Amino acid sequence: MVKRFQDQVALVTGGGQGIGEATVRRFAEEGAKVVVADLNGEAAAAVAQKVSADAGEALGVTCDVQVEASVEALVEAALGRFGQIDILVSNAGVTRDNLLHKMTLAEWDQVIQVHTRGAFLCARAVARNMVSRKRGKMVFLSSTSALGNRGQANYSTAKAGLQGLTRTLALELGPFQINVNSVAPGFVETAMTRAVAERLHVSLEDFWREAASHIPLGRLGQPADIAAVIAFLCSEDAAYVSGQVLYVNGGRPS
Ligand SMILES: NC(=O)c1ccc[n+]([C@@H]2O[C@H](COP(=O)([O-])OP(=O)(O)OC[C@H]3O[C@@H](n4cnc5c(N)ncnc54)[C@H](O)[C@@H]3O)[C@@H](O)[C@H]2O)c1
Repeated sequence: MVKRFQDQVALVTGGGQGIGEATVRRFAEEGAKVVVADLNGEAAAAVAQKVSADAGEALGVTCDVQVEASVEALVEAALGRFGQIDILVSNAGVTRDNLLHKMTLAEWDQVIQVHTRGAFLCARAVARNMVSRKRGKMVFLSSTSALGNRGQANYSTAKAGLQGLTRTLALELGPFQINVNSVAPGFVETAMTRAVAERLHVSLEDFWREAASHIPLGRLGQPADIAAVIAFLCSEDAAYVSGQVLYVNGGRPS
């Protein structure tokens, strides 16, 4: 595999599983040193260990992206170990789906906080190093749900918010040679979507078959499909791409 990220350091939040883990692996395979941050510290450590066993270099860090001190400590740990941060992938996320009349304030707050407050805190903390070095790439994980999705008032609001954050940070950070973009996946096979099948009491197989039937390319997304696009946006091939939201959804219009 081409080593597009040799001598670069990538920090991936929510890197303990799913899309985040696939992104960590992709960066490591392409030569980056990777900081794997996750609320689930054991998962972060396990992913970092696997990367190191495969001859990469990675650091697992327990971090709650909603908490300012935790994010500051994460960035400090990353800089302490690797001295620089070239790439931020703000990927940590949760869902707490419910129809409006059943959605609790706690469900609303938690989803808004993890996605938008978390992305803001990570971007602000990482930007200090990037701005001083006049280089950097940031990618935020939005979603097709930003366009509206029944039962996800909290999540779709948060994911639409990240698109505004992307465009605004592209304006503010462009003069410092920092590219800021979002990837908006459609339906990707991860624990997050498995949980939806459980909630709806349908078999996973039926749920995924039904979901795939609405996708022009005829299959669900895999974490590696999303990781590949994130890597592209962080590569020099995308040097003139900033402030964009790239939908990665198998061709489904929304
Ligand atoms: N799976 C999909 O179909 C899909 C579609 C569109 C967008 N996304 C987005 O992609 C991202 C990754 O999704 P996934 O499907 O891999 O999810 P996942 O549930 O498999 O993984 C999410 C990871 O984030 C971590 N996390 C949760 N809260 C955290 C916090 N406060 N601080 C730090 N880490 C935290 C979890 O521990 C977990 O390891 C999310 O932002 C999600 O909203 C997913």
